[in-house]
Amino acid sequence: MLSAETASAEILSQRFQSVRDTTLSLIADLQAEDTVVQTMPDVSPTKWHLAHVTWFFERFVLEPWLQNYSRFDDQYHYLFNSYYNSAGDMHARPKRGLLSRPALADVLEYRAAVDAAMHELLAAHGDNDEVVKLTTLGLNHEQQHQELLLTDIKHVFSCNPLKPAALLSLASPPQGTVPGYSFTNGKSGIQRTGATGAGFCFDNETPRHDALLHEHQIGKRLVTNGEFREFINDGAYSKAELWLSDGWSVINERGWQRPLYWDEALETEFTLGGVREIVADAPVCHVSYYEADAFARWAGARLPTEFEWESAASNQAIAGNLLDSGYAHPVTGTTSQFFGDAWEWTSSAYAPYPGFKPLAGSLGEYNGKFMCNQMSVRGGSCVTSADHVRPSYRSFFYPDARWQFLGIRLAKDGIK
Ligand SMILES: [Fe+2]
Repeated sequence: MLSAETASAEILSQRFQSVRDTTLSLIADLQAEDTVVQTMPDVSPTKWHLAHVTWFFERFVLEPWLQNYSRFDDQYHYLFNSYYNSAGDMHARPKRGLLSRPALADVLEYRAAVDAAMHELLAAHGDNDEVVKLTTLGLNHEQQHQELLLTDIKHVFSCNPLKPAALLSLASPPQGTVPGYSFTNGKSGIQRTGATGAGFCFDNETPRHDALLHEHQIGKRLVTNGEFREFINDGAYSKAELWLSDGWSVINERGWQRPLYWDEALETEFTLGGVREIVADAPVCHVSYYEADAFARWAGARLPTEFEWESAASNQAIAGNLLDSGYAHPVTGTTSQFFGDAWEWTSSAYAPYPGFKPLAGSLGEYNGKFMCNQMSVRGGSCVTSADHVRPSYRSFFYPDARWQFLGIRLAKDGIK
């Protein structure tokens, strides 16, 4: 019989392979040429994602922990470091699309070599707490990049007049309708917020602390395409009174009149499966914070704070339209949609919790240094893995970001 340590090391090894395999499954329908293109600074080429997540294991797990490990290629350290200044210099983010070399085949070889070394490490030290912690962080990091890989290739393909599909065999979305928008009373008073200590979390979810919630109501579902179409048809994009000042400037400067990927007639949208008809009762996505905020104002409501959101989501099963559902797009739902479909903009600035301490060393650059000028989003999306979300999970984007699956839930002051 295996000892408990050996058994858990084996489980970690299997989980490692499963996450790495999932990443490769996402590129099964892509050609090598597709994996090189970068359409804007926020978008990284597929090939870069594949290499960067591999570099993360090499730099932060193998180098410190696997004896006699030597780097696959010294130059990769410069090319595939994303933003860890304390780990060394790096290639400029907006120029990632210039890297026609190393070729995709070289990057896949890099992945295989690092996989083999990780298995060697886990076989020898898979019971070491620090190795377990770093490997688990690396896997959650790779899951974040799986989502980015898909949203980035979606942007790349949306810029191609051929409008190709990145995923060829998506599940057929469920049919149905949703009830009119309604609210439920949220909890008020002092509520415990942040990671509970059960299972993995990022440092930005800690420490668990008290948050004061005022009386409020929170929406029972996400805002739909049909509701957002009414907002557009009401002329909302030309009513300054609905918009934050920064939002009004952005929509005018950039000529925004509708969500990213919608056609001018408001009938079709670009998806990971190509151009499709907009489903009225499915959640709206690819809207900025400014559009979410303006929609809420138009609807006589507001966006929830991240603490209101977390308090409500903590009562929900962690289930929904996630990557594992196979739709890769928000769908008409019968549940509260707290998890999956689209990340939900909150009205909370992405800021440190009271007593927050970033991880030690270079990994302290993972989250903490981005706590300025961005908004917290919650709940994951249709391209987030089911074993990668939890009520305390916080992601964050600049308020003008639209290329992620970003959607809207409403809230209101007072209780009914
Ligand atoms: Fe990363």
